[in-house]
Amino acid sequence: MSSIQKIGVLTSGGDAPGMNACIRAVVRTGLYHGLGVSGILNGFNGLIRGEFRPMDSASVSNIIQRGGTILKTARSEAFRTRKGRATAYDNIVQQRLDALIVIGGNGTFTGARVFMNEFDIPMIGIPGTIDNDLFGTDNTIGYDTAVNTVMEAVDKIRDTADSHNRLFFIEVMGRDAGFIALRSGVASGAEDILVPETTTSIDELIDILDRGFRKNKKSGIIIVAEGDDAGGAFEVARKVRERYDHYDTRVTVLGHIQRGGSPTASDRLLASTLGFEAVNALRAENKGVMVGVINRKVVFTPFEQAIKHHKDIRRDLLEMARILSS
Ligand code: F6P
Repeated sequence: MSSIQKIGVLTSGGDAPGMNACIRAVVRTGLYHGLGVSGILNGFNGLIRGEFRPMDSASVSNIIQRGGTILKTARSEAFRTRKGRATAYDNIVQQRLDALIVIGGNGTFTGARVFMNEFDIPMIGIPGTIDNDLFGTDNTIGYDTAVNTVMEAVDKIRDTADSHNRLFFIEVMGRDAGFIALRSGVASGAEDILVPETTTSIDELIDILDRGFRKNKKSGIIIVAEGDDAGGAFEVARKVRERYDHYDTRVTVLGHIQRGGSPTASDRLLASTLGFEAVNALRAENKGVMVGVINRKVVFTPFEQAIKHHKDIRRDLLEMARILSS
């Protein structure tokens, strides 16, 4: 029999559509195997403050389709301190939790790794962030939904861009990674896509715009990831305007709309699979790993590697996007 009798689950970092589907999968898989399941509110802050909520099957009814996270989330400063983590551990002991499942991104796994090393509590990580910037999984929970949200927004902006003959610079999320920008940019036929992973050349961008202009393009869409080195959509628009005035330009920052909404079928499936597999991994005495899906296979990556290694965007798609929109 597995030594795990009771588990805790929390969501941490930026929320992502599909986190609820994942919580549901963790709770129901745990209950199926006769485990006690405790929901921890507000990420690691709740672990420190002792915010536990017993989870039964009904507590996760009717949430598979809901964005956000019923457990709430936070980026915890207190968990960065030894004192905070020690209090968290005391609460775990008091609650008789044998293991934790944490759903979040890079910062979440960084904290989880330190905590595990200090207190030897079994932990499994599940990648939940719209950014998709985690090594060890093809997709993170929430990424597909965010991309679809951006694509739908860009489609709408294109209608007005086209009607007014305007060039739009649309800023999407991604401080350090261009996954959302790249995928949504290709899917919406953007004229160019600016991402943090490459150096942006305003000269090159103006060349692309001018080639389009000479081919009689009356409007256009430039997708700018917020972490682009040229400084975000407003700054890129300003730099272009300074030197190229063939288009009337506008800027739209999509912002947190990208984090909300009902998860896509892909995200629900991924979230359900990862939640299910995380509980099974704990029961099999696996720990200190992030569970992901690569080429349709479930894989486990040690926290250390998931944090350390960088997942790169498919740079060839940038070139493809330019060719296809030329
Ligand atoms: O990590 C997810 C993310 O949405 C990033 O894309 C974005 O840069 C950041 O969170 C925004 O964080 P906050 O909601 O704390 O402002």
